[in-house]
Amino acid sequence: MRRGILWTTALCVMMSACDAGPEHSIVPMPQSVVPGDGSFTLDASTAIALVDATDTEALGVANLWAAPFRASAGLPLPTSSTGTIRLGVDGVGIPESYRLDVTPDGITVTAADHAGLFYGLQTLSQLLPPGTESGEPSGESVSVRAVHIEDAPRFSYRGMHLDVARHFFEPAFVKHYIDLLARYKINRFHWHLTEDQGWRIEIDAYPRLTEISAFRNQTQIGHGSEEFNGDGQRYGGFYTKDDIRDIVAYAQERYITIIPEIEMPGHSQAVLAAYPELACTEGPFEVAMSWGVFEDIFCPYEETFEFLETVLAEVIELFPGEYIHIGGDEAPKTRWEESEYVRLLMQREGLVDEHQVQSWFIQRIERFLNANGKRIIGWDEILEGGLAPNATVMSWRGTVGGIEASRQGHDVIMTPYSHLYLDYYQSEDQANEPFAIGGFLPLDTVYAYEPVPEQLRAADAAHIIGAQANVWTEYMKTPEHVEYMVFPRMFALSEVVWSAKEARNLEGFLERLPWHFARLDALGVSYRPLDR
Ligand code: ACM
Repeated sequence: MRRGILWTTALCVMMSACDAGPEHSIVPMPQSVVPGDGSFTLDASTAIALVDATDTEALGVANLWAAPFRASAGLPLPTSSTGTIRLGVDGVGIPESYRLDVTPDGITVTAADHAGLFYGLQTLSQLLPPGTESGEPSGESVSVRAVHIEDAPRFSYRGMHLDVARHFFEPAFVKHYIDLLARYKINRFHWHLTEDQGWRIEIDAYPRLTEISAFRNQTQIGHGSEEFNGDGQRYGGFYTKDDIRDIVAYAQERYITIIPEIEMPGHSQAVLAAYPELACTEGPFEVAMSWGVFEDIFCPYEETFEFLETVLAEVIELFPGEYIHIGGDEAPKTRWEESEYVRLLMQREGLVDEHQVQSWFIQRIERFLNANGKRIIGWDEILEGGLAPNATVMSWRGTVGGIEASRQGHDVIMTPYSHLYLDYYQSEDQANEPFAIGGFLPLDTVYAYEPVPEQLRAADAAHIIGAQANVWTEYMKTPEHVEYMVFPRMFALSEVVWSAKEARNLEGFLERLPWHFARLDALGVSYRPLDR
């Protein structure tokens, strides 16, 4: 409790609104928060009651929430039909919505579905002193002030991305990252698994992907120049299928759907290092050691489709979500332009330029994935040469691609680099920041982002299903560095995608942040302080 009390006191000095309590510090801001009278005390006698005792999924949500309290906070929180923390799912309201009531008699979370129940409990955790979950108050009681909260998400797609190819992150960190996302009601994790610099997923049919494509001889130092400057250290790693199954299950428990990305036709040089016969030219190729965009990409041979479909069939088995991300970005057409095979293909298929070849390529992969029960997402370059009929577009080069795709009736996820690339510097004082790729993306710019472009008619705007922030890791080698780049900017994203547009208020958001920094402190997260 000591840290909790200290923090509450510190907050009260900083925030005039503090006597109103943590119910005014929730991130993302709920739809409505109405303080009540009195408080409820959780202590050794407090139990959890499921409204439907046979609801095993609700029991799973309850147990996951209660686990840290049971393990370290000295609160046993058993389940009992007479418990005063009542949890139920009643199907009322939009997906993922919930109502949370705290009165002196108890706590009730009632949700539209189990994801909503999970989110209601995340909100409840934010009403407790920071550190409660990680060992404090250790056997003492903890009070929650009375409040009535009603809450529902603005967008159904609330995404965070992580590039594990430029640098590899161990399964334990990927789980920790997913856990942090879920606490802030992010529900999609875009796992960028393949790149020129490394292939990170075990595929049984192609062992050379993990023997060769998963490792590079060394890594570029600095932003790069004409002359390569490398660190001389072999680097790599990959996730086994067991790692992936474990991470998928971990994410599912937290209502996060993982979207794996398998890049094509570009960003594929690491594959070509192992399987050079899939390139238009002879090779040999090496797993890239520098950053950038590479000209050696998949050649649209029958053998390439056989390779990709075999890989994707194994990927489908691992990931239960509806989407597979197929990349599609930054694929230079130089090799295709010089290829006799591609010239004949264009003639045969009536394709007028290389963009149409890429479109033909992506449409073929889409047919395969649709036939296997999956939908594709691609970066906005997949608009060039014609969109695949059922594709969802991730708009990263600004919002033009997203606007165009939504007008064509396609679903869109907004990820413009101007507002949502968390690899950019957080301060103009770059000398005092960890080395980054460039750019300038301060917290308030992320917070100001509006995913639905003004010029869209309502029918087209409905295709903007959400937004996502991207974490490219060329210059992030450690978990601590990733955390530094992600927090607190992810807090801003969570409010952009969850809270009502009218509820967004930068000043209020900044006042709420110290409460969350205290939570991150308790969780051991290396966030970037505001006053650095
Ligand atoms: C991207 O940043 N190349 C999607």
